[in-house]
Amino acid sequence: MQDSLSALVERAKSELPNITSRPDFESLKATLVGPKGELTGLMKQMGTVSKEERPAMGKLINETKNALQGLLDATLSGFEAAELAAQLGPAIDPTLPSPDSIAGTRHPLTLVREELNAILKKVGFTVVEGPEVETEYYCFDALNTPATHPARDPQDTFYFPTDAKFSNIDKKVENEKYLLRTHTSSVQIRTMLKGEPPIRIVSPGRVYRRDTVDATHSANFHQMEGLYVDKNVTVKDLKALLDYILKSLLGSDTKVRFRPHYFGYTEPSFEVDLSAKHLSKVNKEWVEIMGCGMVDPAVFDDIGYDSSVWSGYAFGMGIERIAMMMYGIDDIRYFYQNDLRFLRQFG
Ligand code: DAH
Repeated sequence: MQDSLSALVERAKSELPNITSRPDFESLKATLVGPKGELTGLMKQMGTVSKEERPAMGKLINETKNALQGLLDATLSGFEAAELAAQLGPAIDPTLPSPDSIAGTRHPLTLVREELNAILKKVGFTVVEGPEVETEYYCFDALNTPATHPARDPQDTFYFPTDAKFSNIDKKVENEKYLLRTHTSSVQIRTMLKGEPPIRIVSPGRVYRRDTVDATHSANFHQMEGLYVDKNVTVKDLKALLDYILKSLLGSDTKVRFRPHYFGYTEPSFEVDLSAKHLSKVNKEWVEIMGCGMVDPAVFDDIGYDSSVWSGYAFGMGIERIAMMMYGIDDIRYFYQNDLRFLRQFG
């Protein structure tokens, strides 16, 4: 009987791996442990075992029963896993780019950003990105924006609590606060501190301001910053580049004009207005589109560039504003609502 019991376990071990369907599984299970199965048959032979041997034999039968049950359970959970996998479909790799037909269309802000990147790459600019969480140094101090400047007011800027910690951005100095960057100009400083002139970069990205949300304001929007540092850079170079960018984007009949303005990090500084055929869509002749100027020598001195050698220009524009004008969108909130009826209009 002992031999028969271990033969039964061996049989289960050799046959179960070959079972591929539930009906086959059920019938093998019935043969092994069912009411009319082999184990039951062997248990019935207990009557023929001597009284002395009975306890040991009972123990052996129990062990055999448990071993068989274990083998059957393992096979069954294999079936269940396969059935679940079949329901879930083939394994997906979320890191693969999805085919466009499935992913849908590109967001209008992505379209404008990529087009601007492409236009600027043609004339030697490199695209770089900076962190959205910044320190006061990169966002304000290094940009010659003193602690008393209204842009630094908590009414206008989102600050983190003083004990907040971020490991992915450079160390802050004592008492300095982390904040959500209010402009992409912070990337100018990061780029200059990391490299050497000549520098030609653009940096698109998300920025944050404490604004009440309405048709033209959002507490979170996108900008594109540009910085060019070299020898003998002039306002004429700046004007030529902006003409090139805006005409490439909006057509050769686009007009660009400079108005004097003040920014702490450029001198002289300008606001730029443009007039383009797209503006008829929003019923305007001119719109203000960006800020720009010649990098203030104080900024160069502060980060350690010799301002008697190096000169440069910088500009920063709002991507939403350009997209609104190009596509005739009259409410900034459409960009963030993810309404498919809106998104599907951009191919
Ligand atoms: N940072 C400015 C803003 O957010 C835009 C700007 C103005 C960027 C002048 C510049 C600049 O690089 O030189 O409104």
